[in-house]
Amino acid sequence: MGNILVAPSILSADFLKLGEEIKKVENAGADWIHFDVMDGHFVPNISFGIPVLKSIANSHGLVNDVHIMISDPKFYAPKFVEAGADYVTFHLEACKDLQECLEIIDDIHVLGAKAGISLKPKTDVCTIIPILRFIDLVLIMSVEPGFGGQSFIEESLKKITFFKDYRTDHQEAHYLIEVDGGINDKTGALCRDAGADVLVAGSYIFGHDDIKDRIARLKK
Ligand code: DX5
Ligand code: ZN
Repeated sequence: MGNILVAPSILSADFLKLGEEIKKVENAGADWIHFDVMDGHFVPNISFGIPVLKSIANSHGLVNDVHIMISDPKFYAPKFVEAGADYVTFHLEACKDLQECLEIIDDIHVLGAKAGISLKPKTDVCTIIPILRFIDLVLIMSVEPGFGGQSFIEESLKKITFFKDYRTDHQEAHYLIEVDGGINDKTGALCRDAGADVLVAGSYIFGHDDIKDRIARLKK
């Protein structure tokens, strides 16, 4: 298969030893670090924010893949870039309209980072067609955002195929397709076969003593 990228989600890491946990997945073959920001308003959970990103962003050699599940992405997206994000992915559902999405994408690009848009499971793929040419990443939520350890929503596979086909048919589209939620060796293989480029995994990776094997299984 293509060279799939694996992005462990530190939401499932042991925060008492976050630095060690990141080193572990880096040494075990991870490609990105997925950083799940939750504000307790857009999603019913509160995780971590800018001070934590600042302290870890340069502690490893991987891509800082920041997923902001927050209500005011316009205000905060630039702040996450300044704190060390390489990708900032915000939610369409948190934006007033597509115009605001375009402004946020532009703000992120002006600061030299890459911009992603994430869709909740119930959000239709057609809503973001007008802005697909401007983004670097589409993040398909295969669980309701807010918590790790949930089960994969099979419908997500159709969305992966849609975005893969759209990118094939529109040469101005260059985004990566990332899938997030309930990813393990079985669901990861389904996503890979459907056309995913990046797999986010939290509970499948952290808290186990065979991380290298688990990451390898997501890649093959
Ligand atoms: C959920 C987060 C996911 C989650 C993945 O809102 O966006 O990244 O941490 O966790 P698992 O892989 O355990 O479903
Ligand atoms: Zn996420």
